Parts: sequence; C-alpha cells; structure tokens
Amino acid sequence: MTVEAFAPGKLILMGEHAVVYGHPALAIAVNRGMRVRLHSRPGATGIDHSFADDPRLTEALHRVLPVAGVGVEIESTLPIGRGMGSSAALAVALGRASLKLEGKPVTSEAVNERAFAVERIFHGQPSGIDHTVSMRGGALLYNRTDIGPEFQRFELPDLPIVVIDSGSAGNTADMVRSVAERIEDVRPYLDQISELLQNTKAALQKGDLVAIGQAWHENHWLLRAIGVSTPTLDKIVRVAAESGATGAKLAGAGGGGVVIALAPNPGPLLVAAKQNGWDAFEVRQNESDENQR
Ligand code: PMV
Repeated sequence: MTVEAFAPGKLILMGEHAVVYGHPALAIAVNRGMRVRLHSRPGATGIDHSFADDPRLTEALHRVLPVAGVGVEIESTLPIGRGMGSSAALAVALGRASLKLEGKPVTSEAVNERAFAVERIFHGQPSGIDHTVSMRGGALLYNRTDIGPEFQRFELPDLPIVVIDSGSAGNTADMVRSVAERIEDVRPYLDQISELLQNTKAALQKGDLVAIGQAWHENHWLLRAIGVSTPTLDKIVRVAAESGATGAKLAGAGGGGVVIALAPNPGPLLVAAKQNGWDAFEVRQNESDENQR
C-alpha cells in the first residue's frame, strides 16, 4: 500500500519578532512545500533515500508512524531551514500521510495534533503559526494572546513575490533570544513594526505594490535596527531595489534565511541574484489546502 500527502511552506510578510511580544504578524502559505510518500514494506521504518542528515527526522517519523513496516520518501521544493516553514510542511504532510496509511479520516483536528507533535521535535516551543498556515493555506493574520494564538483569515491579492536565499540558515531560537536580551532598547522598534503592519493593511488588500514595497523596506530596516539582519541580507535588499523591486525585507527570524522582494517584473532581479550566487525564485500564495490532502 502506498499513500502520499503534500503540505505548503510559508512566508512571514510582515511582523516577525514583534509577534513574539503580542503584536500581529501576517503570513502566507506558498506554492512550494513538502511531499511525503509512505509505503508498507518489511524492516524498520525509515527514509528510503538520503534526504537530510538530521537525527530529528527519525524521531519525527517515530512520533506518528509504527517503528517497523513503513518506507518513507520525502521530496521538498522548499529550501530547508531558511524560514520558509520546511519543518512545519513536513509535519503536516507526515500527519496527513500517516492518517491515510492507518485508514483514518484526515480531519483538521487529527492533522493538527500530529503536526504539532512533530513540529515540537524541530522547534521546541513553536508558536504553532507555521503548521497552522501550512494546514489552512492562504493568508493569516495571527497574534499570540495570554490564552494562546489567535488566527484570522486575511484577504490578499496575488502578489509578485521573489524569494532570494542568502545561502545560510538563521537559528530562530538564537535570534529570538538575542532580541529578548535587549528588549528594553528594541521595544520601540517592535512597536513601529506593529504600527507599520497596521498602516499597510489597506495597501496589502488593494495590492498597491508601491506602498507595500515601501513598507517592506521600512520593515527590513527596523529588523536591522533590532539586530537580526546580516550584511548579506542587507545587500540582497539593496540589490532587489536596484533591480526594480518596489521593496524587499528579510522574512522569518533573520540571522540568515531568505529575503522577499516585491517584483512586478522579476527578470532583472532573478539575473542579479544569480550573478551574486544567490538562489532566487518566484512564489505565489497557496490558496487552499483542501485539494492537497
Ligand atoms: O524563521 P521562522 O520562520 O522560524 O520565523 C520566526 C518568526 C519569529 O517571529 C522570529 C519567531 C516566532 O516564534 O514567531
């Protein structure tokens, strides 16, 4: 018996780090993700090809699969560990596929429970936004409250987003800790990031690329001010502007990872990224997960 499932990755469009302190952030599911294929076969459960050398993967498989009898194949169209939600997409795809293998209904509740259990192996105490966006698709506005995270669907037109990979991974836990250590100094910047998202909501909903681009630039320099950018991320943002993007910012925790640029004409930016040795690709919002189960 063979079953398979797909789940998308995500991008944080605005509000990272501020969200840790109770402000909202805006994230979208993207049209790239993880595909998991499971098949029954004799022997210990494990990955049937080399995917990534990460001991947490085996632990993740054991969280939702029997210890023996299952061969696993994983395919990714996401860069791994770059703030695009690769572990959450894997968690959701694995949750869905494991339910199918057991012949159980693939309900949101059941997938959520399995995906969150797997996400915790990779991220310790994740906010839960990554796997929630991956499960639901589309765009979500979310914030953490005292009683847990709150999510709200956000209507967003299709935006011409180019992702540029800095080529190095940032460590989310380290970046969050470094901000916490300087919280009194950086709090005004986090408040400004929050205000910026609030003031950009109308432009986002209208698809006003110039206004959104300006806001992304401001958001990037605020993230730089709180110490989570790197010289490479700053350089990518500058190259994006010189290549016709209306704006660009780091997306996710920073310290590495990816930059997102708003590029109505992506050609020159894709060429410039290649010249600099950065991987770059266009992404679109993934509207709904319903047909991907
Ligand atoms: O890099 P990512 O995708 O793990 O995003 C982290 C976003 C933060 O706001 C920095 C942390 C968080 O838990 O929300």
